[in-house]
Amino acid sequence: MDKYNIIKVNASHKYNVMVSNGMLHELGGVMSKLFDRCSIAILTDDIVDALYADTVIKSLEANGFHCIKHTIPNGESSKNMDSVLSFINFMASEQITRSDMVLALGGGVIGDMAGFASAIYLRGIKYIQVPTTLLAAVDSSVGGKTAVDISAGKNLIGAFHQPVLVFCDISTLNTLPANIMRDGFAEVIKYGIILDKELYNNLLKKDSALLEQIISRCIEIKRDVVAADEFDKGERQLLNFGHTIGHSIELLSNFTITHGEAVAKGMVIAAKLGKECGYADVVEPIKNIVEMYGFDTYCPYSATEIYKVALSDKKRDKNNITVVLPESIGKCVLHTISTEELYNLLNRIKL
Ligand SMILES: NC(=O)c1ccc[n+]([C@@H]2O[C@H](COP(=O)([O-])OP(=O)(O)OC[C@H]3O[C@@H](n4cnc5c(N)ncnc54)[C@H](O)[C@@H]3O)[C@@H](O)[C@H]2O)c1
Repeated sequence: MDKYNIIKVNASHKYNVMVSNGMLHELGGVMSKLFDRCSIAILTDDIVDALYADTVIKSLEANGFHCIKHTIPNGESSKNMDSVLSFINFMASEQITRSDMVLALGGGVIGDMAGFASAIYLRGIKYIQVPTTLLAAVDSSVGGKTAVDISAGKNLIGAFHQPVLVFCDISTLNTLPANIMRDGFAEVIKYGIILDKELYNNLLKKDSALLEQIISRCIEIKRDVVAADEFDKGERQLLNFGHTIGHSIELLSNFTITHGEAVAKGMVIAAKLGKECGYADVVEPIKNIVEMYGFDTYCPYSATEIYKVALSDKKRDKNNITVVLPESIGKCVLHTISTEELYNLLNRIKL
């Protein structure tokens, strides 16, 4: 088998996602074939720094790249403008120019911030994603959405800025704590439900030997959705399956319910909404698979509580809201309803 599975992304510019199992030490060699020698500003967090930064830097420097590294505390609370500005100031003080590059080494928090910093520094420089969480591998590292959080909400400042390469070594997931790995599986399951029944069926096997294949398939699905709708005007909204209700649950819990747990609950509720709207009844298959991956599907909030928070969803348009509902396993649709209808539906189903 080839060392790399290469997935070509055709967005506003073309780039490859290279998926491997154990090739992190080859990053410098790969980059030397693709890019001119330059300085590389690495953004990482303290946990990932201790685990993988040495391998990355050694590999890049052995291939003639000059590395500088900026490390921030791990976690969502770092994903803010202060951290982005400190990274940008660091790059400026190290005289990073437009012919240099940024490298995001870490999960979605690092990827989103490094991407945003490279979108705005010098009006945009190139960046590379080296995802080290399951969520970052299958979702945030591909597609060019970058963002930071502000006090008014998550991801409210950002830019579309595609990376020039995504280099995903799935062996880095071996050090991921089980709860963070599980959270990533909520997004993996989501891809199966929205667009690929075969992926859903493979997930039912719970076979770790299939992980690389499963990750690659998720990236292909994300690639296809991004190619069809890079700027999130239509089809890309399918990726929000389970997220409208999930975000409400996450917010209501004050983030004590994690994103993955909330999305898992949100997907089950979306299936109930779909059934109520006359689409197929796929509540049990969705409930089964999320429970199989260790998620609890109990919703601790009332319909009214969820509805109130869902109204602040970014996707709401005046009095209408678009929810993603399953038509069958492997096929979801965008369903636009009035906010009043959403309220009535939420009250009719058993959350
Ligand atoms: N841009 C997008 O399209 C997009 C899509 C989905 C989510 N996101 C964003 O992604 C973020 C969540 O990403 P995440 O779940 O990767 O969280 P994260 O980046 O906070 O990583 C989770 C934790 O895992 C640790 N970690 C990372 N890699 C590790 C490894 N290999 N071994 C051990 N520990 C490791 C990190 O230090 C951190 O503590 C959110 O901010 C979300 O908004 C963005």
